[in-house]
Amino acid sequence: MFGSKLRALLGALMMLGAGMAHAADAPVVIKFAHVVADNTPKGQGALLFKRLVEERLPGRVRVEVYPNSSLFGDGKEMEALLLGDVQMLAPSLAKFEQYAKPVQIFDLPFLFDDMAAVDRFQAGPAGRKLLTSMEGKGITGLAYWHNGLKVMSANKPLREPRDARGLKFRVQASAVLEEQFKAVRANPRKMSFAEVYQGLQTGVVNGTENTWSNYESQKVNEVQKYMTESDHGLIDYMVITNTRFWNGLPDDIRTQLQAILDEVSVSVNRHAEQLNQDAKKAIIASGTSQIIELTPEQRAAWREAMQPVWKKFEGDIGADLIKAAQDANQG
Ligand code: LMR
Repeated sequence: MFGSKLRALLGALMMLGAGMAHAADAPVVIKFAHVVADNTPKGQGALLFKRLVEERLPGRVRVEVYPNSSLFGDGKEMEALLLGDVQMLAPSLAKFEQYAKPVQIFDLPFLFDDMAAVDRFQAGPAGRKLLTSMEGKGITGLAYWHNGLKVMSANKPLREPRDARGLKFRVQASAVLEEQFKAVRANPRKMSFAEVYQGLQTGVVNGTENTWSNYESQKVNEVQKYMTESDHGLIDYMVITNTRFWNGLPDDIRTQLQAILDEVSVSVNRHAEQLNQDAKKAIIASGTSQIIELTPEQRAAWREAMQPVWKKFEGDIGADLIKAAQDANQG
């Protein structure tokens, strides 16, 4: 009697041991996909996250980084995350309107005066709340990463809003950004980031907007004769994961991953401005494009022309959230 119970117990312990051994051998794999080059704030952030995770959780977690839309690009990456085919993304905040309309706040033209204001808003209660606003749809926001304020460009000089009239501008998949260019009587065209260079080269579009590092790393300046330093809007990111995947991790692994991500976020946000200034210098040195500085009066004219976009999306975003963002400009 006793022998058979002992044998059953030993059998169970051996299976448990084998299971744990198997589990111990199989690291958690995090596929981190994104659409930009490595030499950008987001590209550097993904690589730093990989390095620190594999240094501090050796054998327990492996991170595979897929830059430049090499695994999933615009239009596919969010579906892949929800299906569990990828575990982490860091899409531009312009790409969440289907999942959380208030996140469109980050696309409002001329909302934030500078990146310090963006920092204050993202770190405040309103910004933090947006990170968890999509968990009912299976998406958990883990962090905000900076890129920077946007430049606009075309194959004709853009100094006054009327200069944009009739031009086709590539925009991210964002209703706010479509309205932004309609407000200056231009023609917005939603297009994935991977198609921007060819779209401009072939004339499918005539102009676009992005940060210096995204222009330079994709050589978009080669196909844009004029670049206007307008600082008219923001490209920042939300680092996201699949909620079920994240909550299913062993507690100690999840806690360590979040701590590493917090450390990486500080690094990304501290270096983003320098990466963009280095990219601007490289573009100037390349001689491909004339850089246009706006006078205060010219910039005010763009702000005034684009201001109606705010009212148009106030219902989706929320007047309180817009007020919180404006308050963040006060320091
Ligand atoms: C874009 O589509 O222009 C940006 O969202 C690309 C990026 O991720 O910075």
